Amino acid sequence: MCGIVGFTGHQAAAPLLLEGLKRLEYRGYDSAGIAVIDGDTINVAKVSGRIANLCEKTHDGADTPGSTGIGHTRWATHGAPTDLNAHPHLSNDGKFAIVHNGIIENYAELREELIAKGYTFLSETDTEVVVHLIEMYYKGDLKAAVMKTTSRLEGSYALGIVCTDDPETLFVAREHGPLILGIGVGENYFSSDVTALVSYTKNVIYLDDGEFAELSPDNVTVYDCAGRAVEKKISRITWNVEAAEKGGYEHFMLKEIMEEPGAVKAALAPRIHGSDLKLDDFELTAEQLRDVRRIVITACGSAYYAGCAGKFAIESLCRIPVTVELASELRYADPIIDEHTLLIVLSQSGETADTIAAMKECKRLGAKTIAIVNVVGSTIANLADHTLYTWAGPEIAVATTKGYTTQLAVLYVFALYAARRLGTIDEQTYSALLADLHSLPKKMQQTIDMNHALPELAEKIRDRQSLFYIGRNTDWAVSLEGALKMKEISYIHTEAYAAGELKHGTIALIDDGQPVIAICCNDRLMDKSISNVVEVKARGAKVIAVTFRGDTRAVAQADDVIFVPKVDPLFSAALAILPLQMLAYYVAIANGCDIDKPKNLAKSVTVE
Ligand code: M6R
Repeated sequence: MCGIVGFTGHQAAAPLLLEGLKRLEYRGYDSAGIAVIDGDTINVAKVSGRIANLCEKTHDGADTPGSTGIGHTRWATHGAPTDLNAHPHLSNDGKFAIVHNGIIENYAELREELIAKGYTFLSETDTEVVVHLIEMYYKGDLKAAVMKTTSRLEGSYALGIVCTDDPETLFVAREHGPLILGIGVGENYFSSDVTALVSYTKNVIYLDDGEFAELSPDNVTVYDCAGRAVEKKISRITWNVEAAEKGGYEHFMLKEIMEEPGAVKAALAPRIHGSDLKLDDFELTAEQLRDVRRIVITACGSAYYAGCAGKFAIESLCRIPVTVELASELRYADPIIDEHTLLIVLSQSGETADTIAAMKECKRLGAKTIAIVNVVGSTIANLADHTLYTWAGPEIAVATTKGYTTQLAVLYVFALYAARRLGTIDEQTYSALLADLHSLPKKMQQTIDMNHALPELAEKIRDRQSLFYIGRNTDWAVSLEGALKMKEISYIHTEAYAAGELKHGTIALIDDGQPVIAICCNDRLMDKSISNVVEVKARGAKVIAVTFRGDTRAVAQADDVIFVPKVDPLFSAALAILPLQMLAYYVAIANGCDIDKPKNLAKSVTVE
């Protein structure tokens, strides 16, 4: 979705802005633009379509000279993805340009007010009201004008503003939208995404809601909502720019799948201390855990499916009831939440609008909150009482892979940690499960290594109209995620079904040659799962079974088999999902799909 960048320094701004925008491409967008101050004019270039068009239009920035500027990638919400609706937007007097990430909810009434006062609108966007308000309130003091303007705004925003009266200054403001300042030497930057900054500086400041900042080449000042200067901590980005590059792989998705064993190791290592588990910078005592009557996990998309798998581990080990709620539904469901509810929020980006809204509602109702998040300093990480980072590193492909498996890893740590403190697990089981957890990265690598024939399997299903994924218990949770992976990147219709539920309706759709991917990785339920395989086989299905290496029960019934190493069923989702991610990847490759940027999708869904 939308992304913003800004630069002020002593070198040409436009090439740096264009480079920053390229780093934001993965988020999904449909138009882009830059504005650079040159003396007392602002040069603006905007295009619908790709950043490459913007580079062409500006001759790689040569046509927009100047050393202070702002840039934007837009994912259309208010108005079509046209050149006119693209950001930056200019004030009528040409003195101000702004870029905006977020949605101004009260833009319609502000627009009417501004039109009545004589302001002319060129676009259909909600954003344009902001720049006209700034012009209206500006009396020679940009900070005062921005504060007055933001006091009129409802909704979410990360704003980047330039003004010709102060040609070396960038002004930014944040409310419910990510905004990070990059601190350089003789130059400073901002962006909505740290990925756009990391090739220029590793020193960053995460702004909080309600804060503003003023950046010049040699100075950065952050203000609170009352306009008082505040001291902010400078954080170090812990990964290199290479981590956000393809590194020889054809697609980010494949690179990120290959990174999964390492990412899960990074998620587990700081938390496993010999025979003990630790939760970063906080602890949950037995007393605190006993006070939890109910755990609610909320998230969207794959993160929700990670929650579905994690539920089984937490309930089984901790004996606390867990419900997994789609964030977009939970927010408006009048949920039964109180101070005895522990809310676990899962999000790779930490910026998903539905998840943020659900979290705020549950906090309002008194829930304690733990966020399991990948992006450091993100909104969800900031909102939570406690945050457990997944340490997956930058995930660029729209289809999440290592984001999902690292969420699982952290949920497993939480389940074992809490169970031991609650006394709901005996020491022998605890040790066995801890050993299994410890072995996950190695077994994930083995899973990748042993599944080199997936491209051939992909050929067999690439032209199918529909695929079924079935499984029971944790295998069902894996089916849900496997089916989502396939549909989002290959555009093949998929249906994930709890295997035992098939006979209650869905089996009517199974006929000759219908591919069914059966996840059979739950030892305890293997016989039941095999019965469901036999049921679909009897109706002509072609079954691809995902099962343990060395186990013959599913093999005997399946047409094709995908093997994974054996692990406790509570943790098997982390292994079983890998070949399903790879299968989706190879089917999408075979069908010539845009793997890293599937149609209609965005990496971080910042609108509700
Ligand atoms: O950043 P989040 O984890 O909050 O994102 C949630 C979903 O939007 C995300 O998992 C989405 O479903 C992915 N495209 C799945 O690959």
